[in-house]
Amino acid sequence: MIRVSSLFLMAAILFSQCTSPYTSKKNLVAQEAEEVLTVSKEASYSMLSRQCYTCHNPDFPSESRIAPSIAEIKKTYLEHFQDKEEFIKQMVQFVNAPTIEKGKMPEAINQYNLMPVLGFSEKDVAHIAAFLYEASDDVSTWKVGDGQEENITMDPVEVGRQMALSTKSQLGSNLMGAIKSKGTEGALTFCNVAAMPLTDSMSQVHQAVITRVSDKPRNPDNQANETELAHIAYFKAQVSKGQKVVPIVEEQEGQVHFYMPIMTNNMCLQCHGEINTQIQPTTIARLDELYPEDKARGYGPDQVRGIWSIAWQQKTE
Ligand code: HEC
Ligand code: HEC
Repeated sequence: MIRVSSLFLMAAILFSQCTSPYTSKKNLVAQEAEEVLTVSKEASYSMLSRQCYTCHNPDFPSESRIAPSIAEIKKTYLEHFQDKEEFIKQMVQFVNAPTIEKGKMPEAINQYNLMPVLGFSEKDVAHIAAFLYEASDDVSTWKVGDGQEENITMDPVEVGRQMALSTKSQLGSNLMGAIKSKGTEGALTFCNVAAMPLTDSMSQVHQAVITRVSDKPRNPDNQANETELAHIAYFKAQVSKGQKVVPIVEEQEGQVHFYMPIMTNNMCLQCHGEINTQIQPTTIARLDELYPEDKARGYGPDQVRGIWSIAWQQKTE
């Protein structure tokens, strides 16, 4: 039986995506710092584990880490910010819009790449930061509540979205770097998602299969299957009606499948746009050589180029 994710999850993701990280930051932070006191430790721990543990789980073995453990982050932030309000403010500001300049963990940025923008609500992050500030150094004492908290299963929409966005951010930064240093033509060989180390470690941690597929693929290996084609058609219809596109989650006997559209922007058109006007002749020549069956041309901005199709086994214990 296929269960499309509940309205609650949809609302959660819609809400998190609608939250603008840039609105009246100062007031919000101050206001939230006060409000934090009224939220229970249980609720804060639950937010932390559901929203941040995909990447920061302190129990992950070090060889398959994709980000520093939350315990390391807490320690580093405490070293920099002894004052509680400052600790919360700095963490909220970083998570809202991570930059290398703001980062306090340059080795982690080097090793794992900058944390992607994940669109968390400022309020949730402020609660999480307050919890971390107060928490003991021993992470095994963090699990609070009546034991039910032990069984927190991460929201599959959130897990899928995080995997898609972090792969995208890694792919995007590598692609931009390659275009800068090698030009469009030279960058062509870099646009292969299968080579992504993040995809690999995400896959290891979540035993997930992360793919990018399309109805008009460049690489025939990325051809969408029947189910994926149906979801692409649905996303396209949503976009053409000007409706907000929300990821689709299907669950079947513990197997979760997540689908999220991949939209074009102007940057993509130098490789996926109109022939000769947007894709330069030298690039076309190289594309013809590498991808004789290339269908991924003629796109405009803000169109559905394909989807993230991500599958994993929901942990039950
Ligand atoms: C999809 C993966 C992912 C998720 C989910 C995630 N992070 Fe991160 N985060 C990273 C990575 C990678 C780094 C290390 C690189 C860096 O510092 O930017 C990081 C670093 C950080 C840092 C240290 C930044 C610095 O360098 O000063 C903080 C603080 C942080 N994360 C907070 C959070 C919080 C709070 C959440 C949950 C609300 C969260 N993260 C969820 C990937 C993630
Ligand atoms: C430098 C050229 C270049 C740019 C810029 C580029 N792509 Fe690609 N894209 C490619 C190549 C080459 C492939 C085939 C990769 C492979 O062999 O798996 C590809 C494949 C894809 C695929 C997988 C499906 C398929 O067609 O094989 C998607 C989805 C995709 N690109 C989306 C985008 C989006 C969205 C952007 C802009 C944000 C973008 N690309 C920018 C060159 C580019």
